[in-house]
Amino acid sequence: MPPGRFAIRTFGCQMNAHDSEKVANLLLHAGWAAASNAEDADLLVVNTCSIREKAEHRLYSDLGLLRSWRERRPGRLVGVGGCVAQQEGDALLARFPQVDFVFGTHNLRLVPALVAAAEAGRRRAETAESSDLERFELPARHPALGRATPGRAYLTVMEGCDMFCSFCIVPITRGREISRPADAIVREAEELAADGVVDVTLLGQTVNAYGRHALRRRATSTAATSFAALLRRLDAIPGLRRIRYTSPHPIFFDAELVAAHAELAALCPHVHLPAQSGSDAVLARMRRRYRADDLRRLGERLRAARPDIALTTDLIVGFPGETERDFEETLALLRDLGFADSYSFKYSARPGTAAAELPGAVAESEAQARLEALQDLQRSLTLAYHRARVGGETEILLEGASSRSGRGGHREQLSGRDPWHRVVNLDPGAFPDAAPGELVRVRIAEATPHSLIGEPCGDYRSAAAFIEGSAASGR
Ligand code: SAH
Ligand code: SF4
Ligand code: F3S
Repeated sequence: MPPGRFAIRTFGCQMNAHDSEKVANLLLHAGWAAASNAEDADLLVVNTCSIREKAEHRLYSDLGLLRSWRERRPGRLVGVGGCVAQQEGDALLARFPQVDFVFGTHNLRLVPALVAAAEAGRRRAETAESSDLERFELPARHPALGRATPGRAYLTVMEGCDMFCSFCIVPITRGREISRPADAIVREAEELAADGVVDVTLLGQTVNAYGRHALRRRATSTAATSFAALLRRLDAIPGLRRIRYTSPHPIFFDAELVAAHAELAALCPHVHLPAQSGSDAVLARMRRRYRADDLRRLGERLRAARPDIALTTDLIVGFPGETERDFEETLALLRDLGFADSYSFKYSARPGTAAAELPGAVAESEAQARLEALQDLQRSLTLAYHRARVGGETEILLEGASSRSGRGGHREQLSGRDPWHRVVNLDPGAFPDAAPGELVRVRIAEATPHSLIGEPCGDYRSAAAFIEGSAASGR
């Protein structure tokens, strides 16, 4: 049977989404074509996440639908990858006859072979962990592979996590930290720039720990480069206008990385700084290896380097033993750091992690009330940040036009992100011919709780020159 059409469903973080792109690329190289939707597909790949119980549950609640999807047309195949697949492996094949193959987080390259085996009736699960660099060696981007946002791309710099925060499943699902050689990263970045990408997000579970193991061993491999040195090499690539990185761990902000925010024109004035809690007692039980005041100092150091920097964060409420007072310390940290935005979650016990054994569970209703109080505070901080931006100028990387239902039915809406990673909505009538992937210059006219509203600023197409100017003025 000639290869048919595939569709991929993605449940997880940016790394998970980028893995889906890598799998799509491998399938295209193997002769498959992308389906426009699942109904149109012969092969459905589900890329799973297990960070919280709810995320993991999305796979299990989907399996019934997957069974009927598969039964509707003979020859259809279902593959399961990602973090749940890494943990469950063969057990998924044993429990769910509708699953034809399973691939772990280190085994993306095996997907075409697993599909071929499944077509021949052999169901396989490949979840072996590897510690070699081969898994980064993937074929060049297939011409038929689309971009979620034109002009923007992810770039893997390291994978895995050796931190073992007590609540977190990632060190189990993603394995040990491994840094990709700097030369290979720079080469891929150059290819992206040549392909019209202006905005790259460097990915790693603890992205700013990049190179640390190789440096400690004084390895001769090219991964023996600090994260800041890698950023400098990427900043020098013509055409790359915006460089971001996610997620950094607070303890790996050395002086060189902080200084990079003052020095590198393409490095965006935005840092996502996962705090998790503002209580030292909770942070210690979380095994985060910093205190709340360390975060306050880090915020000051980053602001000294780049006064306009926007900070965002991740927070967990209801961690075992979290008291009302601990929670208030989290609110105080939020106010002190003035986060422009945050992602907040109720603690979810993950089997196999250290925190799952801790006493002092917080009642669900209490955790829910804390989550709501925290999100109320964040809304007011975000609005304050947005209001402070009104009247300022910025440049937006345009994303696809989304439609929004207004009073007169559907109205096209143009939006994009600024260098501070805020969503800016624009009236498409004011930007005739502006296309996704283009950088346009705008003035912030209005602030809303969730986004900014921009209007054209002078010759709005002169954004490219403006970006260099904006970094210089932030010094
Ligand atoms: N590498 C990143 C985190 C990746 S997971 C870091 O070091 O911060 C993304 C976020 O999910 C985490 O920052 C944390 O806030 C949240 N998270 C992780 N495990 C969780 C759990 N068991 N319950 C609730 N939230 C969790
Ligand atoms: Fe999870 Fe902690 Fe590693 Fe982040 S640093 S991925 S929270 S173990
Ligand atoms: Fe989820 Fe795995 Fe990412 S658990 S958050 S998909 S690393």
